[in-house]
Amino acid sequence: MTSYRIAVLPGDGIGQEVIPEAVRVLKTVAKSAGVGFEFEEALVGGAALDATGAPLPPRTLALCRESHAILFGAVGGPRWDDAPHEQRPERGLLGLRKELDLYANLRPARCFPMLTDASPLKRSVVESTDLMVIRELTGGLYFGEPRGVERFADGGARAVNTMVYTTREIERVARVAFDVARKRRRRLASVDKANVLVVSQLWREVVTGLGKEYPDVELEHVLVDNCAMALVHRPTRFDTIVTENTFGDILSDEAAILAGSMGMLPSASLGGTVGLYEPVHGTAPDIAGKGIANPIAAVLSAAMLLRYSLNMVDHADRVDTAVARVLEGGQRTADIAGPGEKAVGTRAMGDAIVGELQALYS
Ligand code: IPM
Ligand code: MG
Repeated sequence: MTSYRIAVLPGDGIGQEVIPEAVRVLKTVAKSAGVGFEFEEALVGGAALDATGAPLPPRTLALCRESHAILFGAVGGPRWDDAPHEQRPERGLLGLRKELDLYANLRPARCFPMLTDASPLKRSVVESTDLMVIRELTGGLYFGEPRGVERFADGGARAVNTMVYTTREIERVARVAFDVARKRRRRLASVDKANVLVVSQLWREVVTGLGKEYPDVELEHVLVDNCAMALVHRPTRFDTIVTENTFGDILSDEAAILAGSMGMLPSASLGGTVGLYEPVHGTAPDIAGKGIANPIAAVLSAAMLLRYSLNMVDHADRVDTAVARVLEGGQRTADIAGPGEKAVGTRAMGDAIVGELQALYS
């Protein structure tokens, strides 16, 4: 029997609640697919800081390197907000991205037909939205040098971060984006700020050059401010979007609203030898510990894991279908429940998805 090792890093906040549901879904798949999944849990983020003093303990990194894929929850929380830069839970995630060279972050945002009214935006705007944001994940402002703060004797200070990209860094993420666009509706919007930033001018030059290898993909360049507006004005004009790290961080949160709730959005971080799969929603401290978080983003992330790391495409499709059926059946967690609709908790939503999945296999 083929066996895969999966590193499970629930992290903090609702990561601890949604990841177990994604694991149950994968266990259901394993049983029917005749493969073995070996789940190994490890600490990351605030949980790791509390237990070991480091947001990314060496044991966690080693486990990730030895695994076929990583299922990641979320990191951070108000408890660690005042910690110094290197002692913040977020360093755990950023460290993994950098160490594992996960330079391409895929964030699909799709408006499920039965959730069209869950979005705060008008039905006429969000209806049929189906886009994929591909965010560069290991460069730009997040990692650029020089960075740091200088403190002056007069009490003032000067802080700097650097947005820097090389041709190679742009080209490799753009290649992922063209390949993804090719499997979708063959339209790619490259988002930059080329009217102001030289780094964006290089971005545009490199993406345009690479586009010559993809004559079948229609490429357009969109300025980031305009893209932010278009996303809430006419999101259906987009299919695949590729952009640098910080722009992608911001635009992908914005795109989440098109899907009704952040609780619906999965992600895949690819590039190196092992992929990392993570719901986009973060730790949600306001609802953590209450058992009401939406596990769908985590479950759909597990589906992306099957699709991209294990090449179990049919099984990934089944998980996606199970989620769609549960939604069609009217099950809603609080974040996607309409007025007057009854909301179920994390566990009950997980039960419903596992139930539909078992039915799809029988
Ligand atoms: C994300 C998050 C992270 C980021 C944080 C937690 C460091 O916002 O994955 O979008 O900024 O990349
Ligand atoms: Mg973000």
